[in-house]
Amino acid sequence: MKLTVIGSGYVGLVTGVCLADTGNDVVGLDQDASKVEMLNRGECVIFEPGLGEILRSNMSAGRLRFTTDKPAAIRHGDVILIAVGTPPKDDGAPDLSAVYAVGDEIAASSDRPKIVVLKSTVPVGTGDELQARLDRQARVRCTVVNNPEFLKEGSAVADFQKPDRVIIGAADPEAAAVIAELHEPFIRNQRPVYTMARSAAEMTKYAANACLAARISFINQIANICDALGIDVNEVRRGIGSDSRIGFQFLYPGAGYGGSCFPKDTQGLIHVARRAGAQADLLESVHQVNLRQRRLLFDRISRRFAGGVKGITVAIWGVSFKPRTDDIREAPAVVLIEQLLGAGAAVRAHDPEALGNLEARFGDRIVYCASAYSALDGADALAICTEWNEFRSPDFEEMRKRMRRPIIFDGRNLYSLETMRRQGFEYFGIGRSGGSIAKAGPDKPGESPVAAKVR
Ligand SMILES: NC(=O)c1ccc[n+]([C@@H]2O[C@H](COP(=O)([O-])OP(=O)(O)OC[C@H]3O[C@@H](n4cnc5c(N)ncnc54)[C@H](O)[C@@H]3O)[C@@H](O)[C@H]2O)c1
Repeated sequence: MKLTVIGSGYVGLVTGVCLADTGNDVVGLDQDASKVEMLNRGECVIFEPGLGEILRSNMSAGRLRFTTDKPAAIRHGDVILIAVGTPPKDDGAPDLSAVYAVGDEIAASSDRPKIVVLKSTVPVGTGDELQARLDRQARVRCTVVNNPEFLKEGSAVADFQKPDRVIIGAADPEAAAVIAELHEPFIRNQRPVYTMARSAAEMTKYAANACLAARISFINQIANICDALGIDVNEVRRGIGSDSRIGFQFLYPGAGYGGSCFPKDTQGLIHVARRAGAQADLLESVHQVNLRQRRLLFDRISRRFAGGVKGITVAIWGVSFKPRTDDIREAPAVVLIEQLLGAGAAVRAHDPEALGNLEARFGDRIVYCASAYSALDGADALAICTEWNEFRSPDFEEMRKRMRRPIIFDGRNLYSLETMRRQGFEYFGIGRSGGSIAKAGPDKPGESPVAAKVR
């Protein structure tokens, strides 16, 4: 099929590359000229494992190219997939201006019937509104289909190529059949394709993300209760996760969820509910718990350095919102760095892939470190925000040598309490009695550097 993918970000690029890889003729359209130039040179503009190789092989085969030329790109595709951003506005409602702007371009430049596929995550009713605008403005029939994307950054290619399910929201059975055909190569392992009302598809995407976000906020709240009671949440997590009705996924306590989807989509669904006059109090709590959780590391650091964090140096390991991506949108590390800088601390950060994006955000306000160990030089504490593999089994002796004080605030619960005790670190995990610092008491002025104590 001739396809146009509008938006070459985390979703659009993966979508275009994977659909070219199954033999389609794909044009990727983006308004960002520098991104398009890089892509046309075969340079992957995001870090996503495996994506660069498939990008380049499909470009070499002539099935994939990128442009900023909107009319030409829109004329190319029989199917046009919209994957532009829908970021949150100040009030939490998603900003749909890019979606509608693209719709207007499609109406203006379409010279034959088109199927217009919304892959961007949008509130219920957006497909209807887009259809109405196209009906009003286009000279040809443009049929809107909702086909939400469920890929996870860090394993996006595999997720796209082997989806758990494909959701197609369409009023028109012929358009739905075309989109099902497009996915056919990816569902050979008998994964289901669910065709449903467009609004149900829009709701399915929101409900999926809200459900995952709720699990994370749930276990974070349980972790905080465990902290208050002196219980290790890991034991509780194992105890509940092995229940086949519950499972382990998305039940890892941490420093809150981030990324461009969960925070935005939870708030988006709250807005959808309010507009419909429905209650969303559970979702509001999920969001509030997360906002609080993302402040937890800073609160712990502040309590530990009771004289104030002004003047201390904090090393940060991991700044992307999750491992295997360079995406720092809404990342807990970014929240922590803002708080630390605001309180007068110095920050030395290391991340295997996301330092470029971090530098674009913080400029010369922090120090960027090429290795995890160099980030520790002279640090009064280490805060771990992302569970990259390289942080899992570090050389603790080397760490201790480089740090001014052997204190770890572990927002991902990477290390066993026993290891920390043996290695002589003062260690604060999430839900592992780390919150009981007040009981132990912070350093008093003149107190000797911290002993090896695990709280
Ligand atoms: N990132 C994810 O993991 C993920 C997963 C599922 C769904 N989604 C949803 O997919 C959508 C896109 O997310 P993303 O993370 O890929 O965003 P992104 O910011 O990485 O990419 C969006 C791209 O669209 C381009 N763009 C914006 N307006 C445009 C316009 N008018 N014309 C042409 N190009 C334009 C931008 O330049 C950018 O390259 C969002 O609605 C998001 O919620 C994201």
